[in-house]
Amino acid sequence: MPRTLGLALASVALLIATVWGRPADPPDGLDARVRRFLDGRRGTWRDMNVPEADGRALHDLVIENKYKRGLEIGTSTGRSGIWIAWAMAKTGGKLITIDIDEGRHRQAVANFKEAGVAPWIDARLADAHTLVPALEGSFDFVFIDADKDWYTNYAKAVLPKLTVGGSLTAHNVSPRGGWRRMTGDFYEYVTNLPNMESSFRAGVFVSRKVAK
Ligand SMILES: C[S@@+](CC[C@H](N)C(=O)[O-])C[C@H]1O[C@@H](n2cnc3c(N)ncnc32)[C@H](O)[C@@H]1O
Repeated sequence: MPRTLGLALASVALLIATVWGRPADPPDGLDARVRRFLDGRRGTWRDMNVPEADGRALHDLVIENKYKRGLEIGTSTGRSGIWIAWAMAKTGGKLITIDIDEGRHRQAVANFKEAGVAPWIDARLADAHTLVPALEGSFDFVFIDADKDWYTNYAKAVLPKLTVGGSLTAHNVSPRGGWRRMTGDFYEYVTNLPNMESSFRAGVFVSRKVAK
């Protein structure tokens, strides 16, 4: 299918989806378009973005669990958001992503459009300290990748909104060392909760809610 026709069909699908209140189905050619974008940008990410293996781990986790309601805290220029939204396009979900930095937010929005995943992302320019507690609704997938000293506060704000079976994930988490010092008691807090089962996948901390 010619690229312009594909884009036009995707726009119509998004319009219909908006009217019906559900995310758009992925258009033919989305996989190739996202892959082309990510391949083309490999080695150029300079804004504290996740490594490719961690982006892929987030994508696969969403696909395997059919997660549909995603929240990312810390968009930066959008590398992890592209991986997550790409997966959400396949599960029929949508990702809200938040960043406080206007320049990075603008670049992320441009990247989401270019990669073809914009219909599955709601990118907010905001301070997550105030927006995250104020967000309504439940989430089945959360990725924390913003200010490290606020990780525990983010966890406390989102865990009541995380569905059973949902995953709280976070970047730069470790039981010891530099990340342990920077993220405070986040690791202990989450791993000691009786209803969370925690592990690592690539460089991503993953904690699954197994009971209310
Ligand atoms: C490590 S980067 C995120 C990288 C991104 N997840 C990726 O892989 O492309 C951290 C981001 O968190 C943002 N941030 C820091 N404090 C924040 C806050 N209070 N609210 C929202 N965003 C914040 C920074 O502006 C920065 O862009």
